[in-house]
Amino acid sequence: MRHSTLCLLVLLLGTARAMAADGVDMVLGRIVLPRGDAPSVATTTSPRAHYVLHCAGCHRVDGAGAPEKYVPDLRQLGSFLRVDGGRLFVVQVPGVMGSGLDDRQVAEVMNWLLGTMARASLPEATAPYTADEVGRARSQPLIDVAAARARLVQQARERGVALQ
Ligand code: HEC
Repeated sequence: MRHSTLCLLVLLLGTARAMAADGVDMVLGRIVLPRGDAPSVATTTSPRAHYVLHCAGCHRVDGAGAPEKYVPDLRQLGSFLRVDGGRLFVVQVPGVMGSGLDDRQVAEVMNWLLGTMARASLPEATAPYTADEVGRARSQPLIDVAAARARLVQQARERGVALQ
């Protein structure tokens, strides 16, 4: 019995030494060298991260934009949903359509924006954007953004909706 335990110990130590000589770390396993061309396994999926990466450079992290430089304040986004055509307009603008995000991602970013920084301006019982709705908007690009916006602002003024 004692002899066989000793044999097992000798065998185990021998194997450990052989593995160590082989470059195998008994505790941490093999070292995997990083590859510069390895595909990212951490693709961004959160709407907030998409906003930060694709929108915040112009509209700022808090959505305030820079109205003096013609970058609108997104915190009033909900007011567009109170005028005819506004819901379509806000997903047709070039910054949204040309963001490189797909229809589903655009819908998610818009829903996230409306539910967070634009929440105070949001009408009650607003249906969330869907990928299909964004896809339909994509097939009708805006020709004159400034003119379309001016019409919506005028309509808002007539209805007493706060929109600048
Ligand atoms: C390169 C700067 C830039 C980026 C990036 C950008 N935008 Fe904009 N955005 C603007 C400007 C400037 C306007 C004003 C209208 C126009 O000229 O297109 C605007 C208009 C808008 C509007 C219409 C609001 C209004 O009051 O007229 C919305 C909504 C909007 N952007 C959302 C987004 C979202 C969401 C993203 C990211 C997916 C984004 N933008 C990325 C610059 C940008």
